[in-house]
Amino acid sequence: MRMPTTAHFKLRRKQFLAAIDTPVLLMAGDWIPRNYPANPGPFRADSTFLFLFPDPEPNAAALFDPKDKSVTLFLNERTAADALWHGPSSSFAAVKRAIGVTRVAKRSDLAGVVKRQLGRRRARTLAVADPRATAEAREICGDKVDFADASRIGDPDLLLAVAKLRNHRLPEEVKEMRLAARITRDAHKTAMAHTRPGVHEQELYGHVEGTFAKHGCVQAYGTILSVRGEVLHNHDHSNEVRRGDLVLLDAGAELPSGYCGDVTRTWPANGRFNASQRDIYDIVLAAEETAIAMIKPGVRYGDLHFTAARVIADGLTQLGLMRGSADDLVESGAHAVFFPHGLGHLIGLDVHDMEGFGDLIHYPPGRTRSAQFGAAFLRLDVDMEPGMYVTVEPGIYFVPPILHDAALRKQFRGQVDFNKAERFLKMNSGRGFGGVRIEDDVMCTDRGHDVLTSDVPKERAALEALIGSAV
Ligand code: GLY
Ligand code: MN
Repeated sequence: MRMPTTAHFKLRRKQFLAAIDTPVLLMAGDWIPRNYPANPGPFRADSTFLFLFPDPEPNAAALFDPKDKSVTLFLNERTAADALWHGPSSSFAAVKRAIGVTRVAKRSDLAGVVKRQLGRRRARTLAVADPRATAEAREICGDKVDFADASRIGDPDLLLAVAKLRNHRLPEEVKEMRLAARITRDAHKTAMAHTRPGVHEQELYGHVEGTFAKHGCVQAYGTILSVRGEVLHNHDHSNEVRRGDLVLLDAGAELPSGYCGDVTRTWPANGRFNASQRDIYDIVLAAEETAIAMIKPGVRYGDLHFTAARVIADGLTQLGLMRGSADDLVESGAHAVFFPHGLGHLIGLDVHDMEGFGDLIHYPPGRTRSAQFGAAFLRLDVDMEPGMYVTVEPGIYFVPPILHDAALRKQFRGQVDFNKAERFLKMNSGRGFGGVRIEDDVMCTDRGHDVLTSDVPKERAALEALIGSAV
């Protein structure tokens, strides 16, 4: 299994030890059963654990002690039954040598070892998705961490220290992200090539998932593949793809190391954009490319969002769907009738990287989330730094519950032509126009940016050449 090197993980653990001034207990989490206990879902270690260790074992834990700079890794004992059902595993001595930690201890001794090593000192911890691991860490650390509550996921100083490290990518991590981007590209291209009127969404979904599996990857999040792209996180794949539909694919591969891609493309079922599809597509592409072009150290992510929103407002004004200056439309929030979400998010080991850490790390001191419709979904408003990795994903959607919302219609009646928008709901034999989203993954570099997913076709001509080419 391909992973960053031992030297890379040793450096990351050294950096983490230097960044903390109290002991820290980290939990990988265990298998989480799908239904009955012996039927586990696929194991996925917590991302901070993946950040510091190669290929973590289920139920692993680690104690970082800055006092003597030690790292103790706790692993399940090797039993004959495990060897029978799951195959052999390396001895503790072999793991210690391979990973380069101070010691490897029995997981069942976790509480006792922590107590003996720390005496009266207390360890901090981070809540993880596995509730049993979090409960154990709470007990051992006397900490009230809670995975479901972003304000209690861990001590704020600890979260900031982890975020600082995770946000600044090292070359081996960039290599992983490039690989995830390549596999994500292949999945998108396969889905495009197999698209034709009459195919079912689930068949295209199968091509996407099959591409991930062929490369030893899993989906980084529930793949969105739908002709109903106006439902932002649509996980249904039961529709037939029909002439006149737009197919929206939002999918990303996750490598065994945990690094992932998150790309969205939208294309016409029959291989040719019609006039309305072309008009809307070109506005979204212009918004995306304008925002991406701005990325460099020091640029505020919120400014990217509002610039993209102005490009969208301007484009929709030219089509007669909005009225007024782009500045006024974005100031009032009217653009959100068509672009109702934020421009994007951090990406890395979590597809929305460290979203569980809350706005503490997404909104620096002095900045808070807007309460305005649309901007309230802006997940990120940091100043870009070299090594930061973000998505840029504007969209335009014709969403019946938004366009028919009495309060929004009243609020924006002078700025949105709701009658004209209604015509988009009636297009495509009454199935509606749907939505267009275009998303790339962009790394901030010392001098500018690098679009790691730039090989996924998005120019209209490139898409048209590819659609249906495998059928
Ligand atoms: N890929 C889904 C999202 O970014 O929300
Ligand atoms: Mn995304």
